[in-house]
Amino acid sequence: KKKVGVLVSGRGSNLQALIDAIVADPTFPAEIVLVISNVAGAYALERAAKAGIPTRTIPHKGFPSREAFDDAMDRELRAAGVEIVCLAGFMRLLSTAFTQGWAGRMINIHPALLPSFKGLHTHQRALEAGVKLHGCTVHLVTPELDDGPILVQAAVPVLPDDDSDTLAARVLEQEHRAYPLALRLVAEGKVTVDGPRAHVDAPGNGALMNP
Ligand code: GAR
Repeated sequence: KKKVGVLVSGRGSNLQALIDAIVADPTFPAEIVLVISNVAGAYALERAAKAGIPTRTIPHKGFPSREAFDDAMDRELRAAGVEIVCLAGFMRLLSTAFTQGWAGRMINIHPALLPSFKGLHTHQRALEAGVKLHGCTVHLVTPELDDGPILVQAAVPVLPDDDSDTLAARVLEQEHRAYPLALRLVAEGKVTVDGPRAHVDAPGNGALMNP
């Protein structure tokens, strides 16, 4: 099994989805060996502890630079033997050196259909843009924010009465399907990167339609 480290900052529902997928399937090709939070007291840490997963809290404020903070995370990940890093609601920008050190082995989930709506407040921005389809993206991390080869996307409709909360909830449900699938594909070596694009050996090439 591939050893996975998960970086979190908050609620940790995507972490929970990964934990649940791993627990539900004894043949899942990955195991979570470490959860790191940059925020003390993040609920994600409780979820990890409950699942028996070691945790570290590394408050970013204690470091003189982004690079120094990233180095501290990097040391913990490598000491734990981590082979794949999952960003799951990790709300810090990462240095180029850190992202390059994990190239092809670090994945992120973003609550929009990239390349639309990079950055924050994606659901509100999707509503304001009037898009009819919204969703989430799991992608390989590159130095550019919310960029990098796309592994899995799931789409949901935007409904007339939606506000950002109802839309976020509909997307989140799909995040919890998309992330375990993407981790499985990376862990199984079913991802081939071809420049800016990733080919995934999966039904639908990683596209998840609404069930
Ligand atoms: C998720 O919706 C995730 O896609 C988003 O934050 C939320 C974290 O929820 N990530 C980003 O916006 C990354 N910039 P969670 O802590 O319950 O998984």
